[in-house]
Amino acid sequence: MWSAVATWEFSLQTIEKAKEILSQNGNALDAAEAGVRLVESDPNVESVGRGGFLNADGDLELDGAVMDGTTMKFGVAAGVKGFEHPVTIARAVMEHTPHAILVGAGAERFAREMGIPEADRSRLITEQAKKVWEEKKKIGHDTIGAITLDPLGNMAAATSTSGASMKTPGRVGDSPIIGSGFYVETGVGGAAATGWGEDIMRTCCSFRAVDLMRYGMSPQKAAETVVLTAHETILRHGGKPDCIALVCMNAEGEYGGAANHQGFTYACGSENDAPHVVQVTPIIDKDSDTKG
Ligand code: GLY
Repeated sequence: MWSAVATWEFSLQTIEKAKEILSQNGNALDAAEAGVRLVESDPNVESVGRGGFLNADGDLELDGAVMDGTTMKFGVAAGVKGFEHPVTIARAVMEHTPHAILVGAGAERFAREMGIPEADRSRLITEQAKKVWEEKKKIGHDTIGAITLDPLGNMAAATSTSGASMKTPGRVGDSPIIGSGFYVETGVGGAAATGWGEDIMRTCCSFRAVDLMRYGMSPQKAAETVVLTAHETILRHGGKPDCIALVCMNAEGEYGGAANHQGFTYACGSENDAPHVVQVTPIIDKDSDTKG
């Protein structure tokens, strides 16, 4: 059995790539990384990799992460400039260093030492991204987060994002933060988040969801429970929840997703389910605070 789920409609290409790899007995980590790389290279995805949102200085600073649910090792490259594939740097951090997280100039130097190709500013920063920056719009944070299961039962997670548009240089969101933006444990399940990183980090969404699946909750119910709990926790402590959305998969390859806002979609596919996009009905709507 293979299975894959990833945030947002734009990750249908991730699921198709995962299908290609996993249906030929490829491994979960290769599938997650390769699928995320496609989105990183897609200039039409405004919040990931090439063409991603620019920071307040008009620069592109990318975050990426991977986790191998079988070894429970993870790798992160955060605040990286001049590279198209932070997810690949993150994997190299996991596999070729005794560390888990490298940031900024250190991550870039390490990537060069590993022979990971750099990318020109003219390729990375698209005209559309410049236009958005010139309008000084704070418009988004639509990370890709993917969870994969291979036929041997191994699970993996990968995330990648440019982070929030107009972010303060040096800001890191949830996507490369273990337990918040991603978490996976082979034999249990995996989760990945998208939305306003600060809210997702303060409520540790991905770890919570995996723990709920550990105790038998379905991926759909775990996603809904975590999103609702995160939203209500922030409210209860005097905050105003921003966008929070989650995809989950269990060790059987079942998946689900939930959000506290309109418009969230995810892509998924498995041995028994052709790749497709799911429109999510919000479990609660942050703009009206009504349960859906
Ligand atoms: N969820 C992506 C970010 O806040 O950076």
